[in-house]
Amino acid sequence: MKALILSGGKGTRLRPLTYSGAKQMVPVANKPILWYGIEAIVKSGITDIGIIVSPETGDDVKAKTGSGELFGARITYITQEKPAGLAHAVKVAQPFLGDSPFVMYLGDNLIQDDLEGFLTKFTQQQLDALVLLREVENPSAFGVAKVAQDGRLIQLVEKPAVPPSNLALVGVYFFSPLIHQVIANIQPSARGELEITDAIQYLVTQQANVQANQLSGWWLDTGKKDDLLEANRIILDSYLATAVEGEVDARSQVIGRVAIGAGSRLINCTVRGPVIIGRDCYLENCFIGPYSSIYDQVTLIDTDIDHSVILQRTKVVNIHQRIVDSLIGQRAFLGVAERRPKALRFMVGDDCRVELMAAV
Ligand code: TTP
Repeated sequence: MKALILSGGKGTRLRPLTYSGAKQMVPVANKPILWYGIEAIVKSGITDIGIIVSPETGDDVKAKTGSGELFGARITYITQEKPAGLAHAVKVAQPFLGDSPFVMYLGDNLIQDDLEGFLTKFTQQQLDALVLLREVENPSAFGVAKVAQDGRLIQLVEKPAVPPSNLALVGVYFFSPLIHQVIANIQPSARGELEITDAIQYLVTQQANVQANQLSGWWLDTGKKDDLLEANRIILDSYLATAVEGEVDARSQVIGRVAIGAGSRLINCTVRGPVIIGRDCYLENCFIGPYSSIYDQVTLIDTDIDHSVILQRTKVVNIHQRIVDSLIGQRAFLGVAERRPKALRFMVGDDCRVELMAAV
């Protein structure tokens, strides 16, 4: 059994962060999203892992993730020249996958359920495919499944106007090598991509043995800012353990579950967990509210922040309004330069979004 993780794609919904790096490497609770998937796969006993990367962001993924020693796995990187669809990614990976069955995992997805139970079902029942489903409130935004009483998949429809159920297709699939023959026979969809839903539907039409299983825990697709913040909230809530390695001065207060990395210093700050602060950060006169993740080498001075994610080496200084629900990229500077500024001064990259409060 092998695994294929898809870490290519365009990441348009997470711009501007995806101009400079892969969206799968954006940290959630200070760990790249992709690594959660790798860990879940290794935990299920699969250690031969292929990772699909794009030519633009592949080097970043490789440099940080390495060849697998970090995870007790062997990682093979496979470059997909163009993001031509999930089934196209499988096609590109065929030399790596050979005739092995495999689990395919979308690199920007996180699921709470362990994979072991699904893997056992897939192998013991010798299925051609096993797809995972989750109930959602707005099925029209997803690939939606119609399932028989016995768990057999009857139909898959991509973003249907009239959904046949409220069961959305989660980004984790198990396939036998039969999928390669199917992918060789499908055509690109209206949006020009080789769709994995078309491939699975083809299997169903061919009477292949395709089953569906519902997840019992959460499923998070981190492809958009608010979803990423929600993932950060849930991961901090579920897994964060208190671990203070950095220095916290006597005037600071640390309440609840808080992790502070080595080399970080907090001076006159209040931190109300769950919060994670990375290594070598400097925080002075700050309030850090619940569900915030602050990555390495960040400087925060006179800053009040809540339910936000800040990436490495960013500086936030003298903003006397609470910052909430924010995702701030690497090496950014946000600050008020003068005591009573008469004007605002910006250098904002493409596709950024800055929301200021009206003066009252
Ligand atoms: P999506 O999130 O559906 O696509 P995307 O990454 O292009 O993002 P956006 O819609 O914001 O432009 O992709 C799901 C996952 O699969 C994600 O981790 C990227 C990956 N992927 C590939 O590796 N190759 C592909 O051809 C596509 C379409 C996606």
